[in-house]
Amino acid sequence: MKKLILRTVLVFLCLLGIQNSRAQDINFNDSWSFFNDKAPGAEKPNFDDSKWRELNLPHDWAIEGPFDIKYNARAGGLPFHGTGWYRKNFKLSSDKKGKVVRVEFEGAMYDAHVWVNGQFVGNRPYGYIGFEFDISKYLKFGNENNVIAVRLEPKDLSSRWYPGAGLYRSVWLKIDEPVYVGQWGTYIATPTVSDKLGVVQNETTVENKSNQKAKVVVKHDYVSPAGITVASIDDEIEVPANSSAVSATYTNIKNPKIWDIDSPNLYEVVTTIVQNGKIVDSYSSKIGLRSISFDTDGFYLNGKKVRFNGVCLHHDNGALGSAVYKRADERKLQIMKNMGVNAIRTSHNPPSREFLEVCDELGLLVLDEAFDTWKVEKVPNGYNVFFEEWAERDLKDMIKRDRNHPSIIMWSTGNEIHEQHDKKNGWKVAKMLHEYCVEMDPTRPSTFGMNNFEAPYKMNFAQQADIAGINYKPTKYKYIHETYPQLALYGSETSSCTSSRGIYHLPIEKYETHESLHVTSYDIIGPPWAYPPDVEFHFQEQNPNIMGEFIWTGFDYLGEPTPYGGKDNSTNGYWNGHWPSHASYFGAVDMCGFPKDRFYLYQSHWTTKPMIHLLPHWNWKGMEGETIPVYCYTNLDAAELFVNGKSMGKKVKGKDLTELIVKFSRYEGDSFQSKYRLSWEVPYQAGNIKVVGYKNGKIVKEEQIFTAGKPAKVSLSVDRKEIAADGSDLSYVTVKVLDKNGNLCPDADNLVQFSLRGEGEIVGVDNGNQISLEPFQAKQRKAFSGMCLAIIKSTKKAGKIKLTANSKGLKRSTVSITTK
Ligand code: GAL
Repeated sequence: MKKLILRTVLVFLCLLGIQNSRAQDINFNDSWSFFNDKAPGAEKPNFDDSKWRELNLPHDWAIEGPFDIKYNARAGGLPFHGTGWYRKNFKLSSDKKGKVVRVEFEGAMYDAHVWVNGQFVGNRPYGYIGFEFDISKYLKFGNENNVIAVRLEPKDLSSRWYPGAGLYRSVWLKIDEPVYVGQWGTYIATPTVSDKLGVVQNETTVENKSNQKAKVVVKHDYVSPAGITVASIDDEIEVPANSSAVSATYTNIKNPKIWDIDSPNLYEVVTTIVQNGKIVDSYSSKIGLRSISFDTDGFYLNGKKVRFNGVCLHHDNGALGSAVYKRADERKLQIMKNMGVNAIRTSHNPPSREFLEVCDELGLLVLDEAFDTWKVEKVPNGYNVFFEEWAERDLKDMIKRDRNHPSIIMWSTGNEIHEQHDKKNGWKVAKMLHEYCVEMDPTRPSTFGMNNFEAPYKMNFAQQADIAGINYKPTKYKYIHETYPQLALYGSETSSCTSSRGIYHLPIEKYETHESLHVTSYDIIGPPWAYPPDVEFHFQEQNPNIMGEFIWTGFDYLGEPTPYGGKDNSTNGYWNGHWPSHASYFGAVDMCGFPKDRFYLYQSHWTTKPMIHLLPHWNWKGMEGETIPVYCYTNLDAAELFVNGKSMGKKVKGKDLTELIVKFSRYEGDSFQSKYRLSWEVPYQAGNIKVVGYKNGKIVKEEQIFTAGKPAKVSLSVDRKEIAADGSDLSYVTVKVLDKNGNLCPDADNLVQFSLRGEGEIVGVDNGNQISLEPFQAKQRKAFSGMCLAIIKSTKKAGKIKLTANSKGLKRSTVSITTK
């Protein structure tokens, strides 16, 4: 399996599942008691928790704040470390006696220890990995109470970004007959996929927790996207007592509907286990049919070459913190798709199940990443502390959980691992992790992202994964490809350009930091290793064998407020030198999901549907007559700019270049001539600027920006007017501060107060301002660059929600949402 890439056209064909689930599992998210501190004896069943807070999961205690300079800005300036306890009482009827009862945590942040009725059940350190325990032997039945107690202990200096804290993913109780499909128990792949035929290989692990061997029939029904059972197969196996056995079958699906980026067709596999003529378990895996292949010349999906227009994403969802809501991930990924994104790198940890489900549903390709650290530390209490004992288990469990997802195309064993520099042992660890990947899933290649040059290539480190990910070295693509022709390559992390939405600093200059603690949106600023998107576009075009790029990052995230903060070696991991800066500036989109200008630069390069975007805003009072650089991002042929109706000239894409100040490590020169943006230098005059976009000589799109007057009203718009009354669906309400003519006031920072009536609650507010210390859980928010956001969650009761936004001196606004 090792040199997977070198097989000229090695095709991996997979029919893979979204989610392994069972309707009978009991969602265990409701009615927990929570205490955020040490609580000696809290594992004991009779411990008095009557004063603890009652809540439902998912729960991230750190996002509740408050922000404080005593916490590490690198991890978001929020109280994510310390001890948190969760307890839940439950009863099981007497007929459950003799059954196998398991509790599953989809993720617990961080270092979970679990007790049932005072007995220690087990522990799992890595917060991003799911785990389950068989708790049958600790339980009581009938009228007797059971208590499950969970202690979490996230540590300071354990993460380079905001990890969140708490039971932030779902918990399940699973009750079974002694014979059942094991956790993540189906592994489904196909050795052949074409328009005519899909051959499905299904390995299902059946557990037998009884003292007698079990003869069972494992039956699979394959249900098409249209809901029709298109193939079925039975397999009889014997499962030894207190052991497990695998049923391996092949099934043909004729004329399959293929899973692809534009047609993410999903099948369902319904697996039933029949023992003595009785169904004892039923298990569902959603699947998608597609083939992937790689070689040194590129990546192929269903036989067609696809370049990665990729983004790296951290797992938090802004104001919601790390608590998992499927709709939050869906919205995030829809915004990314709208930018032209076709691939996601789950930097730098296993994502939630829901996130991967959405990727399957939207047709996004995923690079599933396990670790940010191996044995050598980046922060003192990072994963390095657990690597020796847990890495094999964690990596294998990640693959076991995720290997049925059609969206996943690579397993990444790590990001910028410090072992890159370790000549003696680095390659050995890399090889070991690669081998775990192959053992768990030979259908996909392994990879990792390297930022070091050229040592890992020379030291036989880069060669230890199937595909080598290069971080921030676009100028070296050609050299690496020519010098190491056996390596398949892609930009695993690119650009790292920074900005604050709606903020423009003049004149345009390259600075390290700005006194405002914001970063200009002219899209040229970044740390020393970083460069504007344009530079990567250029080198990707020059190197068609590079499989594409994953930009750092799609969305802003909590923590890592580069260029503000500091350096580990001088701050012992604290990044509080530029407090209150505490969130990332790297996103093409801010933490609210509002596009920054850079979003449109990527859209202009990655999409073909006509678009045009203009920057900056046109409110420069006091600068009349002074020169303002105006940029246009478009995928059209040419654009003409007008100021107050007067043409400033037509510019042709590809011919008229924009000079960008560019300085980064391994780049020779001080500037870059970009053919990816059009620009004009125009004297400021209040009024309006308008850009007109041409394709084949015809006007197809235009955009204009007016000088806004004083704030006059608040406007609300909602992403979905109808949501599910399930207690977890969300509606995102965008708030804009407008002048009397409806123009966005680009400097407005008015305080907006919300009031809500009906079957919902405000679960988060934000404005994308990286230096705002306002709480995320509140009923008010200041606008930032004229905008802010309220996130509404449904209750479990169907009805209406009415949200009103008031701001002093401004006309108020109301929106309605229906929950069904
Ligand atoms: C990379 C690192 C990312 C992030 C990024 C910021 O080196 O892999 O996690 O820190 O830099 O530019």
